[in-house]
Amino acid sequence: MQQSSTQETLERSLRDLATGLEPGARMPTVRELVELHGVSPVTVSKAVARLVSQGVLTTRPGSGTYVAPRSAQRQAPPDTAWQTLALADRQIDLSALRTGPLAAPGSGTIRLDGGYLHRSLQPAKALAGALARASRRPDAWDRAPAAGLSSLRSYFASDTDADVSVEDVLVTSGGQSALSLVFRAIGAPGDAVLVESPTYPGALAAIAAANLRPVPVPIGPDGVDPADVQRAFEHSGARLFYCQPTFHNPTGAIVPPAQRARIVEVARAAGAFVVEDDFARHLGHGDALAPSLLAQDPYGAVVQLTSLTKPAAPSLRVGAIIARGPIAERLQAARRVDDFFVSRPLQEAAVELVSSPAWSTHLKTLPRRLEQRRTTLIDALRDQLPTWNPVTDPRGGLHLWYRLPPGITAEEVEHRAAARGVVVDGGRRYFPAEPPAAHIRLSIAGTADLPALKLAVDALAQAITAAPGADQEVNG
Ligand SMILES: Cc1ncc(COP(=O)(O)O)c(C=O)c1O
Repeated sequence: MQQSSTQETLERSLRDLATGLEPGARMPTVRELVELHGVSPVTVSKAVARLVSQGVLTTRPGSGTYVAPRSAQRQAPPDTAWQTLALADRQIDLSALRTGPLAAPGSGTIRLDGGYLHRSLQPAKALAGALARASRRPDAWDRAPAAGLSSLRSYFASDTDADVSVEDVLVTSGGQSALSLVFRAIGAPGDAVLVESPTYPGALAAIAAANLRPVPVPIGPDGVDPADVQRAFEHSGARLFYCQPTFHNPTGAIVPPAQRARIVEVARAAGAFVVEDDFARHLGHGDALAPSLLAQDPYGAVVQLTSLTKPAAPSLRVGAIIARGPIAERLQAARRVDDFFVSRPLQEAAVELVSSPAWSTHLKTLPRRLEQRRTTLIDALRDQLPTWNPVTDPRGGLHLWYRLPPGITAEEVEHRAAARGVVVDGGRRYFPAEPPAAHIRLSIAGTADLPALKLAVDALAQAITAAPGADQEVNG
């Protein structure tokens, strides 16, 4: 913000005055300062407000302005230029992760981006009750076992469809921490990792942070083709394949059961692990789930990840890795080195939540609510742009994935939508290499209700029709 030189002069003189006084001493009144310095009351208020924000002064409503306690006074920021040399080139590549919405999420902004349930879809009461009960436990603040509370491990073991034991489960701080852990623990710097293309950008960021090399395998409406995975293993020498066979983010694709068994066989033949990101197991829209890769794996090749953040709320940062054999031991060791264990009150709250009747009710009602939102978004967008169809009609998950017609870029759609108060997610960052076409990802779960979703679609459709090339057929 531009400051007038009168304000600066006044500020300097007030700072000098305050420095010479004891903390708690009274400063002159606004009227006195106006008279003394020949400035307006507004200039005085602005100068005082800045010195309050810097911790030099403090105001007591109805009483006046005082010299702040010395502890509140901030020092000038340190000169940190030397850090550039010390930090060298060990950067963390955040380019795959979104830094923030293009439009400030102020009042009136509607979110069609994001990967979590809107507050209106979260089991808010059940979460509040679970946290309150957890905090009342006498052992709530004790250490927790490194692999997690046995009650929570046992929940995760029973929640998967595979025949696994409590010992196979390692509790993590949500899915992202599980991904970071797995990529660091399995790969050595420079190793290739097969990934679906497109895929979840958080996984790409974790792969980059572990100094691994993502090798894209294209996916269609039925996910990856096992023959492509086999070829990619052979060409790259990768020993790891990261995939989301159920309600893939961003496309919503589901890998059919026979293909799943084949993927496990292909990985086994290559002597490779498969990291099955099962983040969306509770985000189905009503259909029965295909058996997980883990359930079809007799070799210990599949390492499955899951998280409670998706069906509950983003800050219930509790997830799990299910792994068998030496890899489980390695992951547990790496987990312990990272931060000993996941905060016990949060684990206790998770146990309280998943064992409450309200959780079962939530999981029963969520599919219908998500289904309503998916059909509302597809129909509303189709009404306005009849040639537009999502790449798949996903039977689960929180997103729709649209391929854009030629002539308009994802960035252009993002900016045009933002200008109308709608935040959408341009699809470039979902691709580990050059994308074959421009895409956007739309969330069905980011608005408070269906009318807000329709409003957002109206604004988005207007943004798109105003762009050149928007009327061309989309090859979904
Ligand atoms: C496919 C996938 N995996 C993992 C995660 C990580 O989720 P969290 O760390 O919130 O549990 C996300 C979040 O968007 C995701 O989309």
